[in-house]
Amino acid sequence: MGINILGTGCCLPEQKLSNNDFCRFIDTNDEWIRTRTGITERPMSGWEPTWYLGLNASMQAVERAGIDPKEIGLVIGCSVSSDFLTPSMASIIQHKIGAVNAAAFDINAACTGFVYALDTARRFLDTDSSLKYVLVVAAENLSRFVDFTDRSSCILFGDGSAAAVIERSEKLYSSHLASDGSGANLLFARSMDVAEEIKTDKEFETEFADMPLHKLYQNGKEVYKFAVQALPKSFELAAEKAGITIDDIDWFIPHQANVRIIETAAKKLGVPMDKFIITLDHYGNTSSSSIPLALNEALEKGIIKRGQKLALIGFGAGLTYGGIIIEY
Ligand code: UT7
Repeated sequence: MGINILGTGCCLPEQKLSNNDFCRFIDTNDEWIRTRTGITERPMSGWEPTWYLGLNASMQAVERAGIDPKEIGLVIGCSVSSDFLTPSMASIIQHKIGAVNAAAFDINAACTGFVYALDTARRFLDTDSSLKYVLVVAAENLSRFVDFTDRSSCILFGDGSAAAVIERSEKLYSSHLASDGSGANLLFARSMDVAEEIKTDKEFETEFADMPLHKLYQNGKEVYKFAVQALPKSFELAAEKAGITIDDIDWFIPHQANVRIIETAAKKLGVPMDKFIITLDHYGNTSSSSIPLALNEALEKGIIKRGQKLALIGFGAGLTYGGIIIEY
């Protein structure tokens, strides 16, 4: 059983930060950021809460899907930067869009969140015939906990949200989800209220142990090494399950972390770069929102056509990774 994407939507904060804007407070320059990451600017929230971005993206997806919100049976949210530890972002959005008949919960699989959430949605659709539509919404305000004194990480991230409404279909579908928790200390941010003994947990000691609390820490080099393996591996495992080859895929939609990671993966897979949807130049890395933002933009531009095969591939903190192959 596969899924049919009925509609997608997005919401981006009003303000943007260009590479040059960072020169005002850290020692960096436009050339370094562009050549090392591919990023030129990224949306950055001011007043907008995460749920608000998610709500607007969801409303657009529901409107484009042309469905009644009352027919949505499940809302799955994904975020690493929710406004609340509880309730879930999904519950807030479920209420505000009038999805009165829906269950709601959030998933945290970091930058692989949308892949995990979409696959979870498909499994619900597969096992519950009373379920008609599922809304999957990713929303991030990473700027809330990015360390703006760490020049190697703060220039990477952007804020934004994207959502999709799906139903079951007989189209091609396969997925492969994975996690390697041994790399959990390579990319993390602590919860706001943690006991003193947990703050000094030796498992999570790093060379940046004295970094500001509750800020995002990333060992960029190690995560990079992981990412260039995980991206092609996720695709290969999902493709194997689907019984298809690289040539059968029309569009690759990878997590948008660094264009050099995507170029390396493309080379490993033997896929030309023009088959990859790239949006990181103007969105930066928006964690779980990055894949649906790229999907939404490609659909808005008419790049992706009905019947084409897509590979959505994520990787990120956890370390999680995973790929989904779908027919649009
Ligand atoms: O979504 C989660 C997944 N995350 C990722 O996939 C991120 C993976 N990692 C990366 O994308 C890259 O490792 C980074 C973009 C984070 C860093 O790029 P890099 O090519 O690995 O740079 P580096 O950390 O090796 O730093 C090279 C140099 C250093 O200077 P020295 O020691 O050689 O003098 C850094 O201090 O570049 C310096 N540097 C900067 N210079 C100007 C680091 N950040 C900056 C900066 N501007 N913003």
